[in-house]
Amino acid sequence: MELCLALDRPTLSDNLELVRELKEFNIWLKIGFRSYVRDGNRIIEELKNINPNFKIFLDLKLYDIPNTMADTSEEIADLGVDMFNIHASAGKSAMVAVMERLKNREKRPIVLAVTALTSFGNSEFLEIYNKPIPKWGIEFAKASFEAGLDGVVSSVFESKAIKEATSSDFLTVTPGIRPFGESNDDQKRVGNIFVAKNQHVDIIVVGRPIYNAEEPKEVVEKILVELEK
Ligand code: C5P
Repeated sequence: MELCLALDRPTLSDNLELVRELKEFNIWLKIGFRSYVRDGNRIIEELKNINPNFKIFLDLKLYDIPNTMADTSEEIADLGVDMFNIHASAGKSAMVAVMERLKNREKRPIVLAVTALTSFGNSEFLEIYNKPIPKWGIEFAKASFEAGLDGVVSSVFESKAIKEATSSDFLTVTPGIRPFGESNDDQKRVGNIFVAKNQHVDIIVVGRPIYNAEEPKEVVEKILVELEK
C-alpha cells in the first residue's frame, strides 16, 4: 500500500512549502481541481523540481463527451503526470475512447474512474442514478474494468468488494482516511490504516491529518512505517 498526499493547502507556496519538508519520501502527490485551476502546469513543474521521483496524481475527474475526454486525456498524458481520473458515469464509451487514445503511447499515466462521489447520500444518488450506491458503485467499477481502466477511486469500505468483482490487480485509491483515527473533519465514512489494509487498498489519500499536524513530516514517517508492516 502507498501513500498519496492531497495538496489542498490554500496557496501554491503553502503547498510547495509542505512538499519541500517531505522531499525525501517516496509518496504520491495529489493535485486537485482548485490548485490546478489556480496554478496550472506550474505546480507540476515545481513539484518535480523538488523531487523528480514524486509521483503525481492529477485529480480533475473528467466528465464530457467521449471525443473531448479522449483529447483531454492525451493532453494530460503529455504533461507527464503519473495518474489521473475520469468519471465512470460519463459512460463506458467515453472510458473506452480514453483508453483507446492512450494505448499506443510508450508510457501512459494510470487511469482511474470515480465511481460515486462520497458527497452523495443514498437518496441523492438514487435520484440521479436510480440505483443505491453500493450496487451502482460495483457496477461502475465493473464497467471501468471492462473498459480497460487501471482502477477506481472508491470508499475504503468498498475496496475488497470491487477487487472481488473485477480483479485483485484492479487498483483502489481511497480518500476518507484518518490513519490513526484523527478527526473526521467533513468526511462521513472514514477508515484508518488497519481498515485500508484489510480492504487491500492500493493507495490511501490523506490530506488534513498530515498538513494540519504540527509536524507533518513525523506523521508521514509514522504512516509509512505502518504501511511497511
Ligand atoms: O483532508 P482529507 O484527507 O479529507 O482529503 C481528502 C482528499 O481526497 C481531498 O482532496 C478530497 O477532495 C479528495 N476526495 C475525497 N473524496 C472523494 C474524492 C476525492 O475526499 N470521493
